Amino acid sequence: MKLSEFLYLLAFGIKTVIFRNKQPIVGSVILTDRCNLNCRHCSVNNITGKIYSYEQIISDMELIYKMGVRMLFLYGGEPFLWNDGGHALRDIVLEAKKRGFFSVSVVTNGTFPMDLPEADLIMVSLDGDRTRHNLIRGNTYDTVMENIRNSPSGNICLYMSVNKLNKDSVREVCLTAQTTVNVRAVSFNFHTPYPDTEELALSPEEKEKICGVILEMMKKGVPVLNLKTAFPYIIKNTFPVPCRQSLVIENGTVYTCGRCIATPGLCGRCGYFFAAEYGLAFSGKISVIADMLKTYLKYI
Ligand SMILES: C[S@@+](CC[C@H](N)C(=O)[O-])C[C@H]1O[C@@H](n2cnc3c(N)ncnc32)[C@H](O)[C@@H]1O
Ligand code: SF4
Ligand code: SF4
Repeated sequence: MKLSEFLYLLAFGIKTVIFRNKQPIVGSVILTDRCNLNCRHCSVNNITGKIYSYEQIISDMELIYKMGVRMLFLYGGEPFLWNDGGHALRDIVLEAKKRGFFSVSVVTNGTFPMDLPEADLIMVSLDGDRTRHNLIRGNTYDTVMENIRNSPSGNICLYMSVNKLNKDSVREVCLTAQTTVNVRAVSFNFHTPYPDTEELALSPEEKEKICGVILEMMKKGVPVLNLKTAFPYIIKNTFPVPCRQSLVIENGTVYTCGRCIATPGLCGRCGYFFAAEYGLAFSGKISVIADMLKTYLKYI
């Protein structure tokens, strides 16, 4: 990290924690909601099927940069499906870097070749062992694993959304992260129960058990990109929501924290670890701030 970037983040931290500033630092740009999969737990794919134009994406990036965002995620739908007028995902990543975002990451279902060394992280969704993953994501496990192994860069982080169907394969995903070439770490979320996927929600008892497994794996040296100090708040949904330091932009519309903010009652049952982790750190929880610094410096 450059000194100027470190100083920006330090100033942001001071303004946010001490002076209660509500400026965002993390932002996601939705490139399209089109997707080649139709996962059991997902409520955000193929609603409009639109691929936003290159100009729209650049304008979205410019707007959130002006608002203060420096950590950028490119999201979907499936971002590797995005292309417009000869531009592909790589062009967006390069443009974001040129425009001064400190880190640019992509979240993908991993079914397309991941030749994107310019991204700081490629978050690849892996929702269990082969059986559980395929139950949720169709018959894609082998393709995803092959694409991970064939990726030319070691910038991959596995991304698992834990729900009723795959709650018993957290250990397997941890071990896959530890033993698979090109994988730097693994990061977890709990299922966020949109009205149409209510039946996949985990109880606080189930969440507690899963956090226990993640903790055990951390102790065994598995590189987990989550903050254990946030677990008690995540289990009981007692973290501050929505997270004001994060935003999502889609086709010019900005949402505080996530697009899910528009679904009544969802924030109180939020399963997104980032919302808890950033929300707690930026509300001044010292233990979470220290954990965040230690974990991010180690794995990013
Ligand atoms: C919406 S997808 C978009 C990117 C890409 N298509 C993928 O699957 O990674 C981003 C992440 O959100 C997760 N996700 C989808 N629905 C969710 C839900 N209801 N609760 C928690 N995570 C969810 C997915 O598993 C995936 O890891
Ligand atoms: S691949 Fe991603 S966007 Fe597509 S259906 Fe699955 S979770 Fe949703
Ligand atoms: S706190 Fe609300 S808006 Fe933020 S990620 Fe969770 S459900 Fe979405």
